[in-house]
Amino acid sequence: MLRYLWRSEIRESRLKSQRIRYVKQWVDTSTMPIVKSAESYAPSNIALCKYWGKRNRVLNLPLTDSLSVSLGTHGSHCRLTLADYEQDHVILDGKELPKESPFARRLTDYLDLFRPAGTYGLICEATNTVPTAAGLASSASGFASVIMALNQLLGWNLDDAQLSILARLGSGSASRSLWHGFVHWHAGSDPDGTDSFAVPVDCTWPEVRIGVVMLSTAKKPISSTDAMNLTTDTSHLYQSWPAQVAHDLGLMQQAICSRDFDLLGQTAEHNAMSMHATMISSKPSVLYWSPETVAAIHQIHRLRSEGVAVYLTIDAGPNIKLLYQKQDEQALLSTFSSMVPINPWLH
Ligand code: PMV
Repeated sequence: MLRYLWRSEIRESRLKSQRIRYVKQWVDTSTMPIVKSAESYAPSNIALCKYWGKRNRVLNLPLTDSLSVSLGTHGSHCRLTLADYEQDHVILDGKELPKESPFARRLTDYLDLFRPAGTYGLICEATNTVPTAAGLASSASGFASVIMALNQLLGWNLDDAQLSILARLGSGSASRSLWHGFVHWHAGSDPDGTDSFAVPVDCTWPEVRIGVVMLSTAKKPISSTDAMNLTTDTSHLYQSWPAQVAHDLGLMQQAICSRDFDLLGQTAEHNAMSMHATMISSKPSVLYWSPETVAAIHQIHRLRSEGVAVYLTIDAGPNIKLLYQKQDEQALLSTFSSMVPINPWLH
């Protein structure tokens, strides 16, 4: 056991030093803050064409492109204040977290990438406006808001692409959380990931809505990163995933340009189901769905057969996100009374 912990610490510290070297090509990490405090906001996002699989696990470089829609006012606010002491203090939704809590450690590790060891501490106040009951991942909006606040605090003046690259190191999907609306993360081909960043898609579609149907608050059996790596390493179905993403992405871009809602919904649902098929077929199998997830999928199929244009997507968990249009909201709320309706265009 001790040997295992020792090995995993060595692995962690190697990973951290590789990342520290990487960020030096983007920013001068010897810079001290130029202002006492900085604030920012980033929306959460839901992938319609999923990111599933890394070509570089240290730099979070994806094997494929992905496309998301941001969740408007549902996201993370971040305030970073220079502390009078060397240690960080992490305050999440008004409560100070113990230093050893996974969230505080992950955030401090991320901040460490951008400062010389032992120079200054930060008070990090993070507030999530993602309804906690909705079970939406806040890591994407969290890391995107942190990098935006750091950009101001340290006076870097980075452009959006550079911010997306640095947010990616916190969590892959954070690279897409710097914008509102539809966002396309280009996988890129450079081994160093200089061309792997997200860009906004120039289109608003005011009728499109996301509905979050919370089915379970239980802790995930396996993290998305571990599940992703297991899938790419062991699932025979994964071989066809990159080609499918390229195909789905083309259809989604076409659907967005021509405002073809059924094409967008069908493609997004098919893409999510295919992603889950790759993980279900990994060894050992990763199955995030609960019996309630399956029941909800059947209900969505039934609603569709009755003429409601509703589609679903599922991430690394049992909860379901619905893709629908404004006019169908009431019909959906009568079937899914706990659904949290989100207007992505309100921000
Ligand atoms: O960014 P991560 O490492 O939390 O992975 C996100 C994975 C999915 O949510 C399942 C897909 C996606 O593109 O957001």
